[in-house]
Order: sequence, then structure tokens, then C-alpha cells
Amino acid sequence: MSITILGIESSCDDTSAAIITDGVLRANLISSQEVHRQYGGVVPELASRAHQANIIPVVDGALKSAGLSISDIDAVAFTQGPGLLGSLLVGVSFAKGVALANNLPLLAVNHLQGHVLSHFIRETPESPLPQLPLLCLLVSGGHTQLIVVRSPHDMEIVGQTIDDAAGEAFDKCAKVMGLPYPGGPVIDRLSKEGNAKAFSFAKPAIAGLNYSFSGLKTSFLYTLRDHLREHPNFIEDNKADLCASLQSTIIDILLGKLKRACKQYGIKNVAIAGGVSANSGLRDALLQMGQKECWEVYLPPLRYTTDNAAMIAIAGYYKHQRDEFAPLDLAPQARMESLR
Ligand code: KG4
Ligand code: ZN
Repeated sequence: MSITILGIESSCDDTSAAIITDGVLRANLISSQEVHRQYGGVVPELASRAHQANIIPVVDGALKSAGLSISDIDAVAFTQGPGLLGSLLVGVSFAKGVALANNLPLLAVNHLQGHVLSHFIRETPESPLPQLPLLCLLVSGGHTQLIVVRSPHDMEIVGQTIDDAAGEAFDKCAKVMGLPYPGGPVIDRLSKEGNAKAFSFAKPAIAGLNYSFSGLKTSFLYTLRDHLREHPNFIEDNKADLCASLQSTIIDILLGKLKRACKQYGIKNVAIAGGVSANSGLRDALLQMGQKECWEVYLPPLRYTTDNAAMIAIAGYYKHQRDEFAPLDLAPQARMESLR
């Protein structure tokens, strides 16, 4: 029997709905909220309100684009967390309403597990799935984690940031340079014209497989402060070099621990996921490292790097296989410690 899942994602500032039948994507619609740009970051209350306005047209649009109606849906998957509580609440309540009104089961998805499982979204029934076990570096605006994926049902976090996430390092450093939010893609673009060796910034000395980015952020800030004293146009005159140097430091930190984790766990299938996995420098550097280390490298298509409901629908699909349904009284969670 074929199974069709409606997925709903609303954890931050993107409202998204997707439809997947038997692991194959049929529709994935995303409505991104522009309202936050003028504030230099996501404003939670505005995000919740925009989700409320967007969610019905987005779900409707996904059904239409798949040529389906709600009666064709077998289960509703939604992001339970982690994320902004008000934003999550909109998606969770909407999913419950759809499930209740149409007598459908619910599937609660961990957003981070969704990012990892974006590698399991198939565009056609013939699309190959990644080889397992897989080591996935999950790099988003709120998380930086090294995850051993033994199966879509079995993931273990083996390393993570003890302070800022990699995306946060990009965004915060961009902000002090006066670049627009989100800073990651802007730094990526400007880096292409800069010299990555122009400046050097502090790299953390954290034991094991954990990350830290707060020292780098401070070191970046101090470099700007010191130069600005004698050179008021320092940022403007060195923007591309600052971006390129910062980006290459973040990439070195990320890939250094990834390599170490692969050695420690004897894994040669490697993936990246999350918003920062769109970074062109990170993608190139990982491909190069993969060639040297004889890894099978999986880069997500750019449309699956940032928040989307296709990854929530595929995670729901795997939960459905195991009858892991959620009760109607399940609450959203701003923080989630494990990858269940
Ligand atoms: O996964 P995501 O869309 O949302 C979270 O779950 O956090 O990730 C958003 C993050 C932001 O920090 C953004 O700056 C970063 O991903 N990002 C990038 C790039 N595109 C998005 N960072 C570096 N280079 C990019 N090209
Ligand atoms: Zn995300």
C-alpha cells in the first residue's frame, strides 16, 4: 500500500509544506519571511504572525502542486522542535487541526533529524540513497553537530558546539561588519573575491569532537577594533579579505573535527546538512578532503540546505514505517536534546 505524507515545517522564519509518497517528493513549497531583514535577525513574535498568515496558502499550494486533495493524505508530519516556540506552535496546532478534522495520524519530527534525512529525499523512485553508516556534519543557524547515522531510525550525536553554532558565527561576524541578515550567504559571496590568508583568527583548542565558535567571534571583533583605531575605513577597504579569512577559518574548524570523527568511528561515507551546508567554500573543501581521504561525499542539493518541509515529510515517512505516531496532546519543544 502506498503512503502519502503531508509535512509541515514552521520552526523559525520559513513556512513550508511538502508531500512525499513512498519516500518520493511530489511537492515542496516554502514561504520565506522578509519582514525580519530590517531588524538584522528573526523577531519571534513577527515570525509567529507570518506563519499564521502563510500556513494555509502554503499547505494548499503544496496539495495543488502535487495534484492531490487532503483525502489523499495518509498522515501529517510536523516539526515538534527545536525552534522558536511561537513559530512551532503555529505548525503543531495546524497539523493537529488537519489530523483531527480528517481523522489522520500525526508524526512528530525533530527538526535536526529532518536536516540529516534531507539526504534521503528521493526525486524519483530510482534516486539512490546514501550508503550507511554515514557521518553527517549538521551546520545550521542554531546547531553544529557531528552525527553518526546508522539508519534513518538510528542516529547518535558524537560531537557538538559548546557555545555558538557555525551559522551564528557567520551571522554575528557579518553583523559587526554591517552586512545584512542572514550574513552567511553574504560572506560566502564576498569571500569569492577575497584572500583567505589575509587575516588569521583564533582557532579553538577543544578536546574530543566538540566545537566552539565564541573565541573566533571575539578574535574577529578584536581584529576589527584594533585596525579601526588607525584606519576608520578598515572594514570597507578589506571586506572581501575579512570574509574570505573568516570563512576559511570556520571551514578549517568544521572539517578538522569531521575528519577526526571519521577516523574515530571508521566511517567513509560523509555528508553535510543544514543552512551552512549551502556554503560554497565548505562544499568545495569537503569535496577536496573527500578525494584525499577516499570518502564517499554527499552534498545536499541547495534547495534542501535551508529549512524546508520535504525533510520533515521524509522523516515522517520513516516514522510511519515504524508506526511511531504522536498523540494529539503533544506539545512543541523549543529545545530537544536527543535525535528522536
Ligand atoms: O538550517 P537553517 O536554514 O536554519 C536553522 O535551522 O538554523 O540555517 C540558517 C543558517 C544561517 O545562519 C545562515 O547564515 C546560514 O544558515 N547560511 C549560510 C549560507 N546559507 C545559509 N552560511 C554560510 N554560507 C551560506 N551560503
Ligand atoms: Zn534548520
